[in-house]
Amino acid sequence: MASAAVTTLSTVSVSSYSPKAGLGLGAKSKPFSLSFKTPKSLKAFSGLKAAASVDLESETSFFGTTALKASFAPKLQPRNMSTNQLQPQASFKVAVLGAAGGIGQPLSLLIKMSPLISALHLYDIADVKGVAADLSHCNTPSHVLDFTGQDQLANCLKGVDVVVIPAGVPRKPGMTRDDLFNVNANIVKTLVEAVADNAPDAFIHIISNPVNSTVPIAAEVLKQKGVYDPKKLFGVTTLDVVRANTFVAQKKNLKLIDVDVPVIGGHAGITILPLLSKTRPLVTFTDEEVKELTVRIQNAGTEVVEAKAGAGSATLSMAYAAARFVESSLRALDGDGDVYECSFVQSELTELPFFASRVKLGKKGVEAVISSELQGLTEYESKALEALKAELKASIEKGVTFVKKKAAAAAN
Ligand SMILES: NC(=O)c1ccc[n+]([C@@H]2O[C@H](COP(=O)([O-])OP(=O)(O)OC[C@H]3O[C@@H](n4cnc5c(N)ncnc54)[C@H](O)[C@@H]3O)[C@@H](O)[C@H]2O)c1
Repeated sequence: MASAAVTTLSTVSVSSYSPKAGLGLGAKSKPFSLSFKTPKSLKAFSGLKAAASVDLESETSFFGTTALKASFAPKLQPRNMSTNQLQPQASFKVAVLGAAGGIGQPLSLLIKMSPLISALHLYDIADVKGVAADLSHCNTPSHVLDFTGQDQLANCLKGVDVVVIPAGVPRKPGMTRDDLFNVNANIVKTLVEAVADNAPDAFIHIISNPVNSTVPIAAEVLKQKGVYDPKKLFGVTTLDVVRANTFVAQKKNLKLIDVDVPVIGGHAGITILPLLSKTRPLVTFTDEEVKELTVRIQNAGTEVVEAKAGAGSATLSMAYAAARFVESSLRALDGDGDVYECSFVQSELTELPFFASRVKLGKKGVEAVISSELQGLTEYESKALEALKAELKASIEKGVTFVKKKAAAAAN
């Protein structure tokens, strides 16, 4: 059982981050590239390596803290190159569980674009053959394999490096994320049991809501199976960061590439706490702006649920955010030493056992939990942090209790 405690890195300040700008993918000679970029505001602190990539970056569209750059670049592809000749630049395998769904499909497409994967495994209880056939026609290097139904789950998971779980029911208007608990708790428990049995060393990305409970559920399942590694279990909160960056850039008329807002706490209502005082580049907000932006970021999911009027919750922006987190994980697995993301992980930052904050990713998962962003909070942020703890604690305990009760019932 690999359960070494995750390091808390307290000496790193926000301004010293030096996430590498891109992957050095050699975009000029490759038929395809996808990378996540660092905002220029962070590059100011990151030395020559980052500065060298500014030209490449300025040609690209950016969407967030480490924004997605997707270049299909067919003009740079040798004319006679066939799909079979395309080689991935790394050979990681990624599985998407719930791949036929509203998030699963666009997420699988975005992951298929990564040059770092050699195989994409799609699993769902619904037939996922058509999604796989469709995606397999994209002339990007990875092979796509489909796995439909419980009896194909084990095969889907064998040998994968990253497992992404968007399986489950989404919200409808009037529902909270916690209202999804009863259905999604069972789904996540079943899927993580299979991950424990078939891919115990994989990074696990939990998207299924309520993340504040499903991550503790996954941890308990992995503990019961004797394979829990807290460094490799992640609640995907990237969408909160993506939304915060977008809304702040709009409000303050900033370039999106420049904006980076850490979001801490959890992933539901008031447990989502954007640290606007830690926004890069440095920007000042009035008290009204802080309140308005914080509430909008916390309720952004509901904004989408209501706009979709019963047809589900955020799927496209979620797929984008989850793809960014997958790409960051793959970069870390590939040896990139400058990968930082916010995520809901086992943590010692507060008295709560799980907490979302910025973490440094490495080959073995979470290399460090960044504590410096919790220092020097404004009064508004400090109060909001204290206020979220009770709800987050209850959601975490609900998840833990769910698994323990199931285990007790099974033992009787
Ligand atoms: N973390 C976040 O920021 C975030 C954001 C948006 C949505 N979500 C959550 O993501 C989940 C999925 O949302 P969606 O819009 O894609 O829903 P969806 O209903 O469109 O898709 C869910 C998919 O999961 C599949 N599924 C159900 N049970 C399964 C099982 N046991 N094994 C494998 N697949 C299974 C379904 O067949 C379906 O294809 C929901 O729980 C939603 O609340 C999370």
